[in-house]
Amino acid sequence: MSASVEVRFLPGPFIAEVEPGSTLLAAARKARAPLEAPCDGAGICGKCLVRLDPEALTALEAGVEVGGGNGQGALVLACDARVRADIAATIPDRGDKNLAIVDHGLATARSLAPHIAVVHASNGCTMWAGQELIASLPNRVANLGIAVDIGTTTLVVALVDLESGDELAVASALNPQTAYGHDVLSRIHFAAEPDGLATMQRALIGSLNALIEQVCQRAGVDGGHIHEAVLGGNTCMLHIAAAVDPAPLGRSPYRPSLTGGSHLRAAELGLGIAAHGLAYLPPVVSGFVGADITAGILATDLHRSRQTALLLDIGTNGEMVLAHAGELWATSTAAGPAFEGVNIECGMRAAPGAVDTVSATDVHTISDAPAIGICGSGLVDLVSCLVRSGAIGKNGRFEAKAVPPVGNWDEREGRCLLRLSDGVVLTQKDVRQVQLAKAAIRAGLDALLAGAKVRRQDVERVLVAGSFGYHLRPDSLAGSGLLPAKLAAKVEAVGNTCKAGAVTLLSNAGTRRELESVAARVRSIELANDAAFGRRFVEQMAFGDA
Ligand code: FES
Repeated sequence: MSASVEVRFLPGPFIAEVEPGSTLLAAARKARAPLEAPCDGAGICGKCLVRLDPEALTALEAGVEVGGGNGQGALVLACDARVRADIAATIPDRGDKNLAIVDHGLATARSLAPHIAVVHASNGCTMWAGQELIASLPNRVANLGIAVDIGTTTLVVALVDLESGDELAVASALNPQTAYGHDVLSRIHFAAEPDGLATMQRALIGSLNALIEQVCQRAGVDGGHIHEAVLGGNTCMLHIAAAVDPAPLGRSPYRPSLTGGSHLRAAELGLGIAAHGLAYLPPVVSGFVGADITAGILATDLHRSRQTALLLDIGTNGEMVLAHAGELWATSTAAGPAFEGVNIECGMRAAPGAVDTVSATDVHTISDAPAIGICGSGLVDLVSCLVRSGAIGKNGRFEAKAVPPVGNWDEREGRCLLRLSDGVVLTQKDVRQVQLAKAAIRAGLDALLAGAKVRRQDVERVLVAGSFGYHLRPDSLAGSGLLPAKLAAKVEAVGNTCKAGAVTLLSNAGTRRELESVAARVRSIELANDAAFGRRFVEQMAFGDA
């Protein structure tokens, strides 16, 4: 076997020894460097770029495509570049430390009745989880807990005082698992690799522990006084957090091994809270409808709704729950990563410099920074503007004879594109990605309504959850066709209901039993078994209100 080579990633450094011929992406994963690979190394997302000094290019095997780095070295795709000698690569700053993450959400008030009770005595205290004694301590302690939203892309941790019910601090970050793929399917694939599941679990818990430290510092408390964590997240994220193989979620019949509604020892997961601390996993409905959605049901009180109401969380999956006549129906549709900026030429997350709002009179960027890309809400706004003006036809094609209400037509290699600013363009391929995402969501919605035998016009409330939904304008939801105009007019943005529901589960133990029984009666509509889904999907590819 030939001698290994050393690959360093900066800032860090993160260092790995790999076999010559290994890709920089493989080295980054071995070094646990925070390099994103949304397409899991397929060479199509263009997001695994690293910067190299020009002389470092000689340490790569021939044939790698090299781009300009604006005078700061060369840019290569880490999944395309194979190393043959020691090398250092810089991971460009994507502004992920300043991501606009929605960390608050609507929550129905409940009384304070936590699962953990602290009983003080003259010689210390005892800690009880229901009837079970979990610790006897020689000192007095506070009763603190954390509510966690493990999103596929982002993490949110809230520190809660369980004696007052007050939320003391909140912190958020990018989910480090984005280095192993953008969506749950890529994570499931990576988990099947040697040490893959353990690697992702360690990365996740490491980031959660860093966020726990942050919230403790901000609140001026000791993490040893946190006795319980509630971990919200989709079904795959819960499996990874608990180090349970998510492989069954990736193959028919897509049944989860972990169904939630259970307490684990936090120390066994590696969570940095009190040694005797517990971790509660809320119940899931199915492999596709997870604890993020059940927590959302609880936060919005959807299960007690007297109205016909829809809860919708749009991300890489469009998860939706319909409440009607005392029953709940749920489904999930694969929307793809377009709304998170992946597979979009100038796509990016909601970080400074991202175009986040577009109208005929204004193009706004986050933090008013110079435009460097476009995030999901900006993309939906832009497409909506262009569809409404006729600059994009019903079939999704650019109509170059129409005057665009924003930006200008331009051309590259004989193909028409819309130039929004010097560095931000919208291509025909980008519009196609939006059409695919929109068609998946609308076909899923139609299947849900058909399953529940509810007409669109009978839906009285539309609760849009999640970061992406929080920034969407109802007008653009209708204009882009993501929602029928009649439903878009009823939209209420409810924010991060996963975190809000996790706070409720932390503060009131009775809601755990309530939610476990609700989750068991949700009727799940599996789109893989829905014969009409394909037809609906094709019909919904067109723009215009269908
Ligand atoms: S292009 Fe390299 S991971 Fe997607």
